[in-house]
Amino acid sequence: MSSILTDRHGRFHDYLRISLTDACNLRCQYCMPEEDMSFMSRSNLMTVDELGTLAGMFVRHGVRKIRLTGGEPLVRKEAAEIIDRLGRYPVELAITTNGVLVDRFLDVFREAGLRSVNISLDSLDAELNRKITRRDHLDQVVRNIEMLAESGFRVKVNMVVMKGVNEFEVGDFVAWSRALPLHIRFIEYMPFDGNGWSAAQVTTHDQILELLRDRFVFDKLQDGPNDTARAYQVKGFTGTFAVISTMSQPFCESCNRIRLTADGKLKNCLFSQGETDLLSALRAGQEVESLVQQNIRSKYARLGGQLAEDYHDTDPEILKNRAMISIGG
Ligand code: 5AD
Ligand code: SF4
Repeated sequence: MSSILTDRHGRFHDYLRISLTDACNLRCQYCMPEEDMSFMSRSNLMTVDELGTLAGMFVRHGVRKIRLTGGEPLVRKEAAEIIDRLGRYPVELAITTNGVLVDRFLDVFREAGLRSVNISLDSLDAELNRKITRRDHLDQVVRNIEMLAESGFRVKVNMVVMKGVNEFEVGDFVAWSRALPLHIRFIEYMPFDGNGWSAAQVTTHDQILELLRDRFVFDKLQDGPNDTARAYQVKGFTGTFAVISTMSQPFCESCNRIRLTADGKLKNCLFSQGETDLLSALRAGQEVESLVQQNIRSKYARLGGQLAEDYHDTDPEILKNRAMISIGG
């Protein structure tokens, strides 16, 4: 399909991730720099109408899936209104949230046809969870995850695996999917502005499987064409687990994702340095489609053109990007 959403490498981007805000009710260290974190001012955020207009333009050009992200998307004051509005487009609607506020949104999700919820949770240990998130919401998040799964939502639990921090918990997360239809996803730790990443802290796909082999017997599942995760299932378990191996085995050739930040900038890759200001163009009454086309055409083949071939050689100091909290993952 030839479209303004097709890049030089022949990849068609039909999956749009929209960040609703860069604010969050948690303070995860690997996501949010401790110093120099300045939040976007409200006037720079896309309004509900602007967001709807831009999303509608992407849908007309072939976007079939929209995921809402943050910061924490559910702290955005107009979150329910935005979900309702996007639910009217002919897209698969999904959300990535830290789960703290999810219980207040079940009806909103249902009414908008939003069936798929990804929840970020890095430790099931109360003390470690508090240390990672610098807040105290573990019980609430666990309750919300189980409530979603029991209410028939498709629930993925995202755990960022960090060496020497939480890697010993991977088995406990998998054990959680024994009787509940949870899809546990282990994410290799990635470098973003101010997050203190080093190659030594990455636990890789292969190392995660090795840790799990001590406790479980599991099979490889078939992955979809655009999946970023390699999926497995423990024999007899209701749920599954998967590894997002961005660092050790990136999956850029089949990438179909683009991102719209809460301040209306288009990013063609999680690691892209450049971004295109669609919101200012929209506010100035200019045509945005040609800007989108230029942005997508200039997409690098791999990892924003910024990360080394072997992740051990990536110097986090020279990467030019945003902090994760203002990209939305
Ligand atoms: N490396 C890997 N994943 C990260 N996330 C946030 N920061 C990082 C990082 N440095 C995850 C969040 C969320 C998803 C959108 O991205 O935990 O689940
Ligand atoms: Fe908030 Fe998610 Fe970032 Fe944690 S990882 S600070 S929950 S946006």
